[in-house]
Amino acid sequence: MVDPQPMTGRVAFVTGAARGIGRAIALALAEAGADVAVADVHPARFEGERYYRLRQRVSGPEEDEPTVAVVAARGRRSLEQSVDVADLGSVEAAAARCAAELGPPDVLVNNAGIVNNIAPIAHMGAEDWDREVRVNLSGMFHTVRTVVPAMAERGWGRVVNISSVAALTPGLGQPAYAASKAGVLGFTRAVAQEFGTRGVTANAILPGLIATPLVRSMPAPLRDHYTSRAAVGRLGEPEDIAQLALFLASPAAGYVTGAAIPCDGGLSGAAREGLGGDGDAG
Ligand SMILES: NC(=O)c1ccc[n+]([C@@H]2O[C@H](COP(=O)([O-])OP(=O)(O)OC[C@H]3O[C@@H](n4cnc5c(N)ncnc54)[C@H](O)[C@@H]3O)[C@@H](O)[C@H]2O)c1
Repeated sequence: MVDPQPMTGRVAFVTGAARGIGRAIALALAEAGADVAVADVHPARFEGERYYRLRQRVSGPEEDEPTVAVVAARGRRSLEQSVDVADLGSVEAAAARCAAELGPPDVLVNNAGIVNNIAPIAHMGAEDWDREVRVNLSGMFHTVRTVVPAMAERGWGRVVNISSVAALTPGLGQPAYAASKAGVLGFTRAVAQEFGTRGVTANAILPGLIATPLVRSMPAPLRDHYTSRAAVGRLGEPEDIAQLALFLASPAAGYVTGAAIPCDGGLSGAAREGLGGDGDAG
């Protein structure tokens, strides 16, 4: 029988968990029994989910509550942490507070990411390039360096890194994003290799186009292009990613490590190139 609460007694540190995919992952982990540190550069900047959700799977007042409040409503301990993952000192301070108040993280979800920089290479500012790489890729180095050695000492840990299908098939004008997300795949394998014999797994998820504020800010033609090419013919939902992250974070996934798993409605594996279409697999 499948354990409905496989994360009971575990502490999860989820970056970028104030909204979007990170919020959905934090809530799925809490639902499964974990205590959750909600680590975000703007932990209190929460936009009501109803403003961007395309399909309502959660209804009721919780939609307008910050992530920490919803985690607490699930009966779990939660901690709101103001963290800039691009800053090693900020990450170290947050991890220390998490260890003191919730316990040391058993699960690290590296979800914080930005796309603030869509431009042809010749027009891309060097500082914009650096910031995107620093948040999307160096941020994962900072968190792994800070919390994973202690997981290995305790003999159990899970690292889930959020990459993107853009790592494999970059969108036009996203060189820094594509490079940073491709770097995540190599870094994930390195973490898996270094810590595998000490009970720590590390895997990467490659989301397709998921209905979050980040995607709403994309140019509409780019968004429509990806939507029409997905085999299932719809945008993904944050929960689509959260359920995969939950599995990878669970004890059941102990033999999955170093993997790069698309969760993209078929965008990378079964794209409907040239078909257009408006199907919905539900
Ligand atoms: N939405 C998609 O279609 C999609 C597709 C592929 C990959 N992704 C990846 O999934 C992750 C989450 O995306 P989303 O769509 O939920 O984005 P989002 O913008 O809705 O949420 C990202 C969260 O990360 C936080 N954040 C940003 N910079 C940070 C920093 N320096 N330190 C700590 N927190 C920071 C933001 O405050 C925000 O709460 C990102 O890594 C993104 O690249 C998203």
